Amino acid sequence: MTDAAIELANVSVRFADMIAVDRLSLSVAQGEIVALVGRTGAGKSTVMNLIMGTLRPNHGSVRVGGHDPANSGEALRGVLGASFQTDRLLPWRRALDNAALGLQILGQSRDQARTTAASWLARLKLVGCDSKYPHELSGGMRQRVSLARALAVDPPILLLDETFSQLDAVTSRALRQDIGALIRDLGKTCLFITHRIEDAVEMADRVVVLAPGARIVMELSPTEMDHSAAHNQIADAMETASGA
Ligand SMILES: Nc1ncnc2c1ncn2[C@@H]1O[C@H](COP(=O)(O)OP(=O)(O)OP(=O)(O)O)[C@@H](O)[C@H]1O
Ligand SMILES: [Mg+2]
Repeated sequence: MTDAAIELANVSVRFADMIAVDRLSLSVAQGEIVALVGRTGAGKSTVMNLIMGTLRPNHGSVRVGGHDPANSGEALRGVLGASFQTDRLLPWRRALDNAALGLQILGQSRDQARTTAASWLARLKLVGCDSKYPHELSGGMRQRVSLARALAVDPPILLLDETFSQLDAVTSRALRQDIGALIRDLGKTCLFITHRIEDAVEMADRVVVLAPGARIVMELSPTEMDHSAAHNQIADAMETASGA
């Protein structure tokens, strides 16, 4: 096992005649929170799919905890937790049973899984929602259920793709503050994908700005600088990248 939780080395992905990822090298240390920022089509979700192992690169290597996620057998079982832009809840399952799903997939009994899921719903400030169906919850609440499902399996690595982007500014801010504090407290590694600069600046130890082809145009550490200066630098880099 290497020190890096996630390591992409010289990775390229081609779809038909377009290059979605062009020789990307990126590594995320254990316990680090990294934001990937870039405009639509930059290749962010493609990078997430590579790390999830649902997509294989045409070139280069992807490693999660030292293993190839597309061919890891049981080695990465329970290691990656993911939350997506859409909440991907099952409409016929109540909030509690949606949150319990990951644990049941990993083999826990329904009762055991429900007990753990209930504590995560409470931790994500969803008290009183356990027996509600997704359609009875607001978008922000559904995102919290989706995050509870990801966190309940206690994965050392979390991948969040646009988790907060669909929410209004106030709800999004509250949720990312809660999640940011939680991730840090638990010492998790997190790769966090967003097109919203404020999400990145407030949550990440390191922000990586991607241009189309998932080319890295800038990296900075908001924790080491004034947030409004970080915001401006990222905005400038995104603008330059889109014109390139
Ligand atoms: N399965 C696929 N087949 C063909 N092209 C694809 C596929 N997946 C992604 N692409 C293309 O690859 C490029 C990068 O897509 P990707 O979804 O990674 O972007 P993104 O940065 O996540 O964008 P967004 O912010 O809109 O979610 C886009 O041009 C997209 O059309
Ligand atoms: Mg995307």
